[in-house]
Amino acid sequence: MANAEVYLDHAASTSVAPEVRAALVGAIEQSWANPSSRHAPGVAASRALERAREAMRDAVGTRFRRVVFTSGATEANNLAVLGLGRGGRRRKLVSTAIDHPSILAALDHARRLGAQVERVPPGPTGEIDVERLAAAAAGAALVAVHVVHNELGTVVDIPALVEILARTTPETRLHLDAVQALGKLDLPLHLAGATSVAVTAHKVYGPKGIGALLLADEARPRPLLFGGEQQDGLRPGTENVPGAVALAAASRLVVAERPVVGERLRRLDERLRDGVAAFGDRLAPLVPAGRAVPGLVALALRGVPAEVFLHRLEQQHVYVSAGSACHARHARSAVLDALGVPPDVGLIRVSMGRGTTEDDIDAFLAAARAALPGAAG
Ligand SMILES: Cc1ncc(COP(=O)(O)O)c(C=O)c1O
Repeated sequence: MANAEVYLDHAASTSVAPEVRAALVGAIEQSWANPSSRHAPGVAASRALERAREAMRDAVGTRFRRVVFTSGATEANNLAVLGLGRGGRRRKLVSTAIDHPSILAALDHARRLGAQVERVPPGPTGEIDVERLAAAAAGAALVAVHVVHNELGTVVDIPALVEILARTTPETRLHLDAVQALGKLDLPLHLAGATSVAVTAHKVYGPKGIGALLLADEARPRPLLFGGEQQDGLRPGTENVPGAVALAAASRLVVAERPVVGERLRRLDERLRDGVAAFGDRLAPLVPAGRAVPGLVALALRGVPAEVFLHRLEQQHVYVSAGSACHARHARSAVLDALGVPPDVGLIRVSMGRGTTEDDIDAFLAAARAALPGAAG
């Protein structure tokens, strides 16, 4: 990207980090054989895959002994919801009203297959009441929920949820969408007690089209695809070895950098919040500081449609989004409706990354001032 461009849409996707690119190219060159082949090149590819699995367990939690590589988190979430939830008749599946479409649409599909589905509403700024979620989960086959919300940055109190579920409905499985949490939270600490976890490479400086579903021993999902015996038949098809190696390298990178990058994002988050304070309610944080992960700031926009604001920013080479990329074709984020935000308010998501600088934040603020004529500040 040219220097003058300011990319603040890391929650949508990230560019591939040089170290990840090197791992990817290395695997393309050295681990090109079919990992199911018994000859030496096949064994080398199979070993590369196993090393990638080991790295994923280190990043997410050694409790998740089975690592199933998928085409991304959409597939991993579908495999968890439909495979673990066994969307058969009279099974209850629970999530929240603001989870990612790869969970919610999978639940809709399960409902069409006869499952009972419940979506627990969030509080006014996206907070998930885990007591309420656990109460809805009584007797359910599965609860599927985000760890960090992709549009709001809010964090669900997973340890508390695990504790309540274990006490009140121990048979209920817990699937976590940790896509936006990898590299932001200490996952082995935070996710202990879950049944399965979905992650994807392209949000953590890896390539698109590779993700993983990590499974604890008690998880026995059914496959969604049918074919060969790869990955224990759970995800047939020749494994994407270079992708898996890249996902592992990306996960290792963001976990290693988390203390330093996290601290920088905290300062940049503060700078952004201080800066937007001057805009009053024309552009104001939806979620208070401390309730969202640093570096992902959802702003409520008033007075200008979000698409117009985005376009004005884009003309100044500042790239943010109006919420999830999955909803890019819709003018307004569906999450706002779930929060009960009035229809004349839009969402602007500013999501920072490992390369974001103070200058980028200042450029966003300057561009926002120019895009909101008459705004104070
Ligand atoms: C929270 C969350 N879950 C799932 C996904 C889907 O991931 P993928 O693009 O790898 O299918 C995304 C990203 O779009 C996301 O932000």
